[in-house]
Amino acid sequence: MIKVLICLLLQQAEKVSAVWSVTFENQDYCAVKGSSVEFKCSYNYPDDESVRETAWYKGMLQDGIWERVKLSVLPTYKNRFAYRGDHVHNCSLVLQDLQEDDTGYYYFWFDTNRFGRNSKQSVYLSVTELKASIRPRRVSAGDNVTLECGTDCQSPRIIWFRNGHIVTQPEFRAKIQDAGNYSCAIEELKSVQSDPVALDVWYSPLNVSVEVNRSSLLLAGSSVILTCRSAANPAADTYTWWYSSYFSNSSSELQVGSGQVLNIASVELAHSGTYICQAKNRVGQSRSAEVLLTVEETVHPFIVLAVGIIVIILLVLPVVVIWARKRLPHSDADKEVRDGTVLGKKNPSKKQEMKPVSHGV
Ligand SMILES: *[C@@H]1O[C@H](CO)[C@@H](O)[C@H](O)[C@H]1NC(C)=O
Ligand SMILES: *[C@@H]1O[C@H](CO)[C@@H](O)[C@H](O)[C@H]1NC(C)=O
Ligand SMILES: *[C@@H]1O[C@H](CO)[C@@H](O)[C@H](O)[C@H]1NC(C)=O
Ligand SMILES: *[C@@H]1O[C@H](CO)[C@@H](O)[C@H](O)[C@H]1NC(C)=O
Ligand SMILES: *[C@@H]1O[C@H](CO)[C@@H](O)[C@H](O)[C@H]1NC(C)=O
Ligand SMILES: *[C@@H]1O[C@H](CO)[C@@H](O)[C@H](O)[C@H]1NC(C)=O
Repeated sequence: MIKVLICLLLQQAEKVSAVWSVTFENQDYCAVKGSSVEFKCSYNYPDDESVRETAWYKGMLQDGIWERVKLSVLPTYKNRFAYRGDHVHNCSLVLQDLQEDDTGYYYFWFDTNRFGRNSKQSVYLSVTELKASIRPRRVSAGDNVTLECGTDCQSPRIIWFRNGHIVTQPEFRAKIQDAGNYSCAIEELKSVQSDPVALDVWYSPLNVSVEVNRSSLLLAGSSVILTCRSAANPAADTYTWWYSSYFSNSSSELQVGSGQVLNIASVELAHSGTYICQAKNRVGQSRSAEVLLTVEETVHPFIVLAVGIIVIILLVLPVVVIWARKRLPHSDADKEVRDGTVLGKKNPSKKQEMKPVSHGV
């Protein structure tokens, strides 16, 4: 008799537990901070009952005691949760804009016209932040680089972005154009990306060139500025200027300066020749192509003045001479006329007086 009763009671219990149930499709969720998650859930109860109320709870430690607290009374969940279920058999819940504090256990509860019932089991949610890291973060072009996306979730499929564009390989040999900001995301949720991490790719100076601030044909005495340009990371910090004379055919180079700018304040003929700039950073160095400077001699202002004066003298002199020639005979004749007319008699006597003196000596 007792045996039968126990059997009956057990059967009844089994029947009840089969009818009363809450089933989670998944009991473990891992989601990225900022994303949203849907707990898929269904529930069951005897057919002759109807559901009056449902609610989701979170397991929380309050004053040292674990309690289930309704999400609707927690301010931190305000506007972030949505019941996607119904009053029949669907009890799905969506949580949005997940925060790390959302990590924890979640429970479903429903009340029929006869009983309120808590889910025995819970859903565990773990909210993780994606942490992008690059090893190493600073490389020389050609070095191997590995991208790592740290997450507490179990091996989600990760995708990488460089400056917003998808990167296909998380391991690669760094090229110059690989420099940039990298972030990772879970493949299903591309919009939630980790904070970016910068990859710095160092390389020795490239595309070294010499910029001349005027045409390479220079007049002696003018000034010229040569500027050394290059692409380098880090930027070139040491420059050397080399010069080969135009006139000596020896290929010897002379170091004629340092610094990005070579300023020749007053060029001379001897400055004609080829110039090369060498740019260097801590990775390496390289040289520009040769730049030819040709200096044309100009006439010095003093010489111009001197030549001018000579030309003037040469032009004026004949005129003066001609003028002088024209004028001189007239004056002689005048004299003769005067001598002849006025003093003509005295002169011959003077000559005659002098002759004996010279003879006497
Ligand atoms: C419950 O409803 C949600 C939202 O409409 C849906 O995504 C989910 O598949 C439904 N679940 C069941 C068990 O019907
Ligand atoms: C870089 O990676 C390649 C293959 O990805 C490998 O063959 C090479 O040995 C690596 N180089 C270094 C310096 O680790
Ligand atoms: C990378 O990020 C830094 C700092 O956030 C920014 O200054 C830089 O412009 C970014 N680089 C690119 C290529 O977007
Ligand atoms: C060097 O010059 C080439 C050709 O003009 C150009 O394609 C390349 O981007 C330059 N390199 C750098 C690092 O600026
Ligand atoms: C070149 O630099 C010199 C010195 O500063 C200046 O006198 C000259 O005008 C510049 N020439 C040009 C074309 O910029
Ligand atoms: C130029 O080179 C040639 C042959 O190498 C040599 O005979 C000549 O003397 C050199 N001239 C000058 C000005 O150095």
